[in-house]
This record gives sequence, structure tokens and C-alpha cells, in this order.
Amino acid sequence: MHKQPDGNNNITAVAADHENVWHHLSNHSAYEEMAPMVIVEGSGLRVTDANGKKYLDAVSGGLWTVNVGYGRERIARAVYDQLLKMHFFSQTAGNVPAALFAEKLLQKMPGMGRVYYSNSGSEANEKAYKLVRQIAAKKYNGKKHKILFRERDYHGTTITALSSTGQYERKNQYGPFTPGFVEIPHCLEYRSQWGEIPDYGIKAALEMEKVILREGPDTVGAVVLEPITAGGGVITPPRGYWKTIQEICNKYNVLLHIDEVVCGLGRTGKWFGYQHYDIQPDIVTMAKGVASGYAAISCTVTTEEIFDIFKGDTTDRMGYFRDVSTYGGCAAGPAAALENMRIIEEENLLQNATVQGAYFNQRLHELKHKHQVIGDVRGMGLFQGLELVIDRDSKQPVEESYVMQVAAHCLANGVLIGRTNRSFREFNNTIALSPALIATRDDIDEIVDALDAAFAEIKL
Ligand SMILES: Cc1ncc(COP(=O)(O)O)c(C=O)c1O
Repeated sequence: MHKQPDGNNNITAVAADHENVWHHLSNHSAYEEMAPMVIVEGSGLRVTDANGKKYLDAVSGGLWTVNVGYGRERIARAVYDQLLKMHFFSQTAGNVPAALFAEKLLQKMPGMGRVYYSNSGSEANEKAYKLVRQIAAKKYNGKKHKILFRERDYHGTTITALSSTGQYERKNQYGPFTPGFVEIPHCLEYRSQWGEIPDYGIKAALEMEKVILREGPDTVGAVVLEPITAGGGVITPPRGYWKTIQEICNKYNVLLHIDEVVCGLGRTGKWFGYQHYDIQPDIVTMAKGVASGYAAISCTVTTEEIFDIFKGDTTDRMGYFRDVSTYGGCAAGPAAALENMRIIEEENLLQNATVQGAYFNQRLHELKHKHQVIGDVRGMGLFQGLELVIDRDSKQPVEESYVMQVAAHCLANGVLIGRTNRSFREFNNTIALSPALIATRDDIDEIVDALDAAFAEIKL
């Protein structure tokens, strides 16, 4: 039996959704008894479902995306104007917003030189992997083709992006995977692989050197890392980690590819997550917050040095980057991205993410004092996480079903929260919190209060 929602116009949409749409990451047997949620409106940090119920969205569109919030008229207008004027032409030629956004973006990324457009985070990462493979072919007889990735990180949904993903449950049943991707250990100190040690961050980074030496430095072309791991459990790298990673990359001539798909465009209080750590990447990929979801866009940004490798001799038929992305030529993406970036600047949203993020973190630590189930609080800016455990001493993770109940309780109280979802069999125990960068103290309090009520009510 389908439960019909109240309201009139939206009833048809809910029924149509229920009958026809296959939802992402969803077990549809749950929808035998009730219709999936359909979101019909958004404004600022709030969304409304088809029943007319309003929610504070504490996870920016479910996936860390809506950085500047819902209902931004000026983005809609910029996209509208651009669509009428010139909506699409292959990126073999240029378009005005793509040119202007690339210029503006690179001003925020010292040391980077070129922007390559496509339309999803997975695709941006695939481009980066292709660059690495082609550099290996051009400079190293194909030998330096391996790409390292880290346990717990996620880099996308396509088979090769999954091949570089360190989340076993997410990958399970989708193999065989693309060869040449090699895992390095995670850097989550709370779940230290070596017990309590000083300088955990340096030790975790040095593990990468061991893997490079085992594989052979002449076979390793790049490493791809999230600056702060998102879906793998909101993991802020420990002190010393990034500096050591950079040193190892330099030592073995391994390109450093940072996946900013979640952290990019202000989420952590700087334009990019890596900018907290005084490092210089060779490749940076981004999507989600680039246009806050108002249009599909992703970017693979490289240094001028990498770009130059692909210039070469005009008679070399194989020498340039022989890649194309049809929708990389949609002008709506960069038109939205330009306005999105202007909004972040004009409304000082980096500053807001820093200030409100610090307040959020402090409130979550207060919550930890109150509720034993919170084992660890992690995060930076408006990107925070709570790892839930059955027992603080043993750190035994709670079951995923417990986290689902907490999320359902918050939902019933009008707050949408995120959680690690089918990433690992045993570690689907982190709550992810990432409201839009416009969040106020009151919004943060509302999120924390909803969590407080849920933890008080739902017993282990
Ligand atoms: C860090 C990271 N990289 C890449 C992706 C893939 O992005 P998309 O879903 O746009 O392909 C995601 C998506 O959640 C992500 O979190």
C-alpha cells in the first residue's frame, strides 16, 4: 500500500516518483510501505518536501553540494541568460563563462595553471588518471603508471574511480577493477593501526613511502588523496601528515593529485581544503560546490608544467590529451560557477565557514561530554563529523542501524543529517554534518539540539 501524501500538485509527482524512479544508494524494498521523500522547494538552508514539511538541511543537498544555499536568484538568472545566448558548444572551442571562470578560479589557486571541464567528480578524477597514464606513456615508457589511493577515501562511482576508492562495501560486487591502482593505509588517528604513538601523522604518511618502495618508485606515477576524507568518515589528517606526503611525492617524483570534490569552494573555510596544509599539488579535481548544484560542472586543474607536457610537436598524433567530455561544453556550469564564486566572495562565506565551523565544533564537543555514544568529533569549517561507538574504551563502532535511527529521529524533528552509508561493513558509524556556508549560530544550534534529542531518546 502506498501512503499518499497530503497536498495537491505534488501528489502526482510523488506517485510518479514512486512508480518510476530508481533512487540512488537506496534499497527500494523500504518503499513498499511508503513513498520516497520528494523535495519540492528550497530556500537558504531549508527545504520542503511534498507533504509541506520543512527541514533544515544540514548536509547541503544530501551530498555536500549546495554551498551557497537554495533559491539563489542571481545564479538562476545568470544560467538563464547564458542558456538563451549560447548554451552549448564542444569544449574544443571556448565559451565566455568557461573562460572567465577558469581565470577567476586560478586566481584562487596559486601554482596551478589550467582548467579542464567535465561534469561530475568521478569524471574529473578519471581525467586526472588519464593524464597520469599518458604522462607515463610519454615520459617513462608506460612504466610510471601506477596510482596510489588511500584506504577510506572515495573518488567516484565509475569503475575506474571505484578502483581508486578505499571503501570495501562500496566496491563490493563491482569488480574486476582497473589494474594499476594500489592502496595505502588510512590516516585516522582515532583508529590508529599502530596503537598510541607520538607523531601518528608522520608515521601514517611514511607508510606511503613503504608502498612506493615495495611497488618500485619507477612504477608509481601519482597519488590521489582527499584533503579531508568525507564519506569515509570525516577524517581530518593528523599533524605532520601532509608535509610528509609532499616530501615523499617530491622525493620519488610522484604527482600529487588532491580530490577537492567535497572540500572545494569554501567548505572548510578556505577555497580549497589543501590550502590549510601548505602544500603544492600537481592536479586538483573539484565538482559539487563549484556551482552548488545549480548546474553540473567539474574541473580538473593542473599545473602549467603538466599542461606543457601535452603541447609538444604538432606532428605527434598521439602527443596531446586526446580526451573529450560532451557536457564539459555546457555553458550553464561555468555561468553558475562564476556567480557561485562571486556570492562566496561578496558574502564573506569563507569567513563564515571558519567562524560558524569553530562554533559548530565546540557545540559538538559539548554534545560529546553529554552522550557516551559519541566517540570522536572531527572536522574543519562547516564540515564536521561524529564517530559513534558502543563503548569509548573498546571503540567498538555502533551498528549502522543505530545511526539510521538517529538520522530518522532528526528527520522527524525537521533536521536532515548525513551519515557514512554502505562504505564499510563495520564503520558505517559516522554522522556527517555540512550545512550551507551561510549557516548562522541559530542554525547550528538547531542541528545540535536535534542531535541532542536523538541521542537522549535512542538507546543502544
Ligand atoms: C571526494 C569525492 N570525490 C569524488 C566524488 C564523485 O563525485 P560525483 O558523484 O560527482 O561523480 C565524490 C562524491 O561524493 C566525493 O565525495
